[in-house]
Amino acid sequence: MTSSTEHNLARVRHVVAIAAGKGGVGKSTLALNLALSLSAKGFKVGLMDADIYGPSLRKMLPEEIAPVQHPDIQQRIIPAVSRGIKLVSMAYFIHEGDPASVRAPIANGIIKQFIHQVDWGELDFLLIDFPPGTGDIQLTLIQEGMLSGAVIVTTPQQIALLDVAKAIEMFRQMQVPILGLVENMSYYLTERGDPVYPFGQGGGEKFAHETGLFFLGKVPLDPEVSRCCDEGISLFSEGAGTPASGAFESIADKVAQQMESFEKLEKDQLKNFELQWQK
Ligand SMILES: Nc1ncnc2c1ncn2[C@@H]1O[C@H](COP(=O)(O)OP(=O)(O)OP(=O)(O)O)[C@@H](O)[C@H]1O
Ligand SMILES: [Mg+2]
Repeated sequence: MTSSTEHNLARVRHVVAIAAGKGGVGKSTLALNLALSLSAKGFKVGLMDADIYGPSLRKMLPEEIAPVQHPDIQQRIIPAVSRGIKLVSMAYFIHEGDPASVRAPIANGIIKQFIHQVDWGELDFLLIDFPPGTGDIQLTLIQEGMLSGAVIVTTPQQIALLDVAKAIEMFRQMQVPILGLVENMSYYLTERGDPVYPFGQGGGEKFAHETGLFFLGKVPLDPEVSRCCDEGISLFSEGAGTPASGAFESIADKVAQQMESFEKLEKDQLKNFELQWQK
């Protein structure tokens, strides 16, 4: 049981933001598939859907156990559970299809509740699916969410990279170490197995190099990814691996490795973590 003076996330080893600045590049898809991969590797995982206005994780990861109010402590929420992953999302608190038409201070208050009033308990990883943009909600998450690091997602196009650069700057200004960059929707494979690059080749990797970020890997465009997300099934429970499932597993390994090495650093070394990793 968490004592009243202990921070609610005190027993979460690593809080990791999955962010882009840009909408529609695959933040939720990456957050979900990293959560599933890390969970399959034996880690205890939680997922916070911080997209108040466009929550999508509940549909992608339908709950086996619904979230409930704590029986003893008022205003405390016990998160939903699905495939062993704890999940909180605005989608549990509005009717499906209804817009979450709330003003910014209310949305911010909900985010604070997700951080401070959800019984996250003991976790190895709490992944936070960031909403697009670099505004008030993102700053609240950074200031109150005890972030250990951030994973940045992009697609290869220059237009996406413009917004992604702003998100990188936001995390750097707030001294959150960036674990690396993922390029999503990099290519697709033809029936003959040849890669085709609909959005240009190598944009994300080049950008990672230019901005001094570690390149965590490429995720191909894979129809199985969107099918599994839409149908709420796990990409990893489908038997043989798909082009994207191997990529998600490899990125999850790298994130886990980085966080393990991060944990060994002393507090005063943390701010140099990103620089150390780049060497
Ligand atoms: N690698 C991929 N292959 C195929 N489809 C993908 C891939 N990545 C994402 N998608 C699909 O692209 C769409 C957008 O992805 P997603 O919702 O994860 O983006 P997002 O960045 O979270 O968007 P938003 O900013 O609206 O929250 C979804 O329909 C998802 O299934
Ligand atoms: Mg999303």
